[in-house]
Amino acid sequence: MQTIEINKLDHQGRGIGKIDNKVIFVPYTLPGDLVEVEITKEKKNFLEGKVNKFINKSDEHIENKCLYYGICGGCQLRHMSYQKQLEFKQNKIEEIINKFVKEKIKINNIIPCDNIDYYRNKISLKVVDNKLGFNILGTHNIIPINECLIADKKINNIIKVLNKQNLSGIDNIMIRSSFVNDDIMVYLEGKKCQIDINELKKYVTSIALHINENSKKVINKGNIIEKLNNIKYKISNLSFFQVNTAQTIKLYDLILDKSKLNGKEVVYDLYCGTGTIGLYLSHKCKKVIGIELIEDAVIDARENAKINNIQNCEFYAGDVSKIIEKMNEKADVIIVDPPRNGLDNKTIQNIFRLNPLRVVYTSCDPITLARDLNILKEKYNIIDITPVDMFPNTYHVETVMVLERKN
Ligand SMILES: C[S@@+](CC[C@H](N)C(=O)[O-])C[C@H]1O[C@@H](n2cnc3c(N)ncnc32)[C@H](O)[C@@H]1O
Repeated sequence: MQTIEINKLDHQGRGIGKIDNKVIFVPYTLPGDLVEVEITKEKKNFLEGKVNKFINKSDEHIENKCLYYGICGGCQLRHMSYQKQLEFKQNKIEEIINKFVKEKIKINNIIPCDNIDYYRNKISLKVVDNKLGFNILGTHNIIPINECLIADKKINNIIKVLNKQNLSGIDNIMIRSSFVNDDIMVYLEGKKCQIDINELKKYVTSIALHINENSKKVINKGNIIEKLNNIKYKISNLSFFQVNTAQTIKLYDLILDKSKLNGKEVVYDLYCGTGTIGLYLSHKCKKVIGIELIEDAVIDARENAKINNIQNCEFYAGDVSKIIEKMNEKADVIIVDPPRNGLDNKTIQNIFRLNPLRVVYTSCDPITLARDLNILKEKYNIIDITPVDMFPNTYHVETVMVLERKN
């Protein structure tokens, strides 16, 4: 056991200290803590440890209300006040962008979230030995749970309902909720289902069963309806939808504002999921062209255009880097919202070819954002970056970056 002082936080919110000049990362600690640590991992250049005892605890620690904190690993910042979490996220973005992009960039203040608990509209759970739970961080074992403090309260009710059922034969369960309609979808995957479906149907809008590889079945409608401002969205079980519904309205309002539309533009919405962003701003531009990999999401996107009576949106299914190559329609604004790995070079070259006046880039990984920025800045000026807190109590942070063509 060694005693160390924590001086700083890393980008995952872990405390950083030193043992014999070697850096050690210790989760759930804060600068100012003096802790007795046990080394859990030894690598050539760094160590990882866990707290055995706090000798001196910083006054910044707050009481954590979650029974599973530090076990499931889903939240990393519950020991920090929300104000401190926001400061951590703001610093993280500033540090990464300033380190990797050698240019002075305007980084706006982070947009906070109004609800720091019960905000998630989707959670994925495992079943082991007839018990429903989350994976214990770094293992294949689970911690059985009866609630998750960041999940919608309706989802928590369903966890309690499922916990009274015979879950053996099921491996994975996903629960998805809608905030406007009170819809709930349960997706069950496994080898055998012994759940009393008639009982479950009393509590949920939709059940999707995927039992054995080839047997897929949908009970009730197979989707749920969510609404962001005036736009309704139909979401199927496997389609991507932003997990923090209330904060998504703030995110999309920011994208809309930064796109500076005047009604005449052709807007590309790349990595469009169920068409959410494009549909949200479709009334402010001439046309939206959306591209998305998951076929079901594109079917939803088209259906979403129909149910909202929106006629100026087209959606294409496939890999953005392949579909965009065939696109020739003039682009005024290109919106991109890629997964963590960011944009590939082919897509960036095709953005250059389509030559939009403005690119609005939403990113969930500041490192890949910085990498892409260094390529995009050949032809685009970086106007600003705004961090948005979509995931309170976790170290994750979303950013919206605006670029404008150089000439
Ligand atoms: C971060 S989500 C954004 C979705 C949507 N913009 C939204 O706000 O709901 C990224 C989306 O990119 C899709 N995707 C991942 N790789 C892709 C690729 N190579 N081509 C097209 N879409 C892709 C995913 O299926 C997912 O729907």
